[in-house]
Amino acid sequence: MLEICSLGHACYTISTDGLTLITDPFLSDNPDAVCTPDDLAPDYILVSHGHHDHTGDAVQLSKSCKAPVIGVFELCSFCERHGADTMPMHIGGGRDFEFGRIKLTPALHGSGVVHDEFIEYTGMPCGFLITIADTNVYFAGDTGLFGDMELIARNINLDVAILPIGDNFTMGIDDAVTAAEMLQPRIVIPTHYHLFELIRTDPGGFADRLADIGVQCRILEPKETMSV
Ligand code: NI
Ligand code: MN
Repeated sequence: MLEICSLGHACYTISTDGLTLITDPFLSDNPDAVCTPDDLAPDYILVSHGHHDHTGDAVQLSKSCKAPVIGVFELCSFCERHGADTMPMHIGGGRDFEFGRIKLTPALHGSGVVHDEFIEYTGMPCGFLITIADTNVYFAGDTGLFGDMELIARNINLDVAILPIGDNFTMGIDDAVTAAEMLQPRIVIPTHYHLFELIRTDPGGFADRLADIGVQCRILEPKETMSV
């Protein structure tokens, strides 16, 4: 059995049998956060791209939990320079783990860490196709809609797709519905729609649209857990 818990914004824990993955651990600076990094003990830290609402506490968590950051090579190199353990991968590449497999997927977005006078680019943004406890979870990351999403699910049955719906910086609801049509997951979890005013939207309206195409939507409030 697999449990997915929302920790606010794009941060989720995905847990099975005492093993926990965490995505985009933005907690200390997140006004919506429901826990602190000290409350967590992930085994792997998946970071989709270098924007601060995704890298968040990744380096600190890696140091305190001795857990590697998984992401594209350039972002891992940034994290490593700041003291994190890393397992660099790249888009299109997969790797087997004791719990299953992770493959990095493309994402249409940017990726960089903003310093006072410059942006330090951290390679390509990515998503993650995670197979854990015989369950397939697609965490899209921050992304616009792209046609190759169809390829991501071509040869597997997706159980869960975690898709951004907040618009402006990522897909909005219309495009996320199209993404769900291409991906055909059993369940969609909408994400990235509440942190600030510009991206605020109604996940209930999204759920209605998914119902029309026969896809189940599960809206997870921060701290809410679902079993898959
Ligand atoms: Ni971003
Ligand atoms: Mn973001």
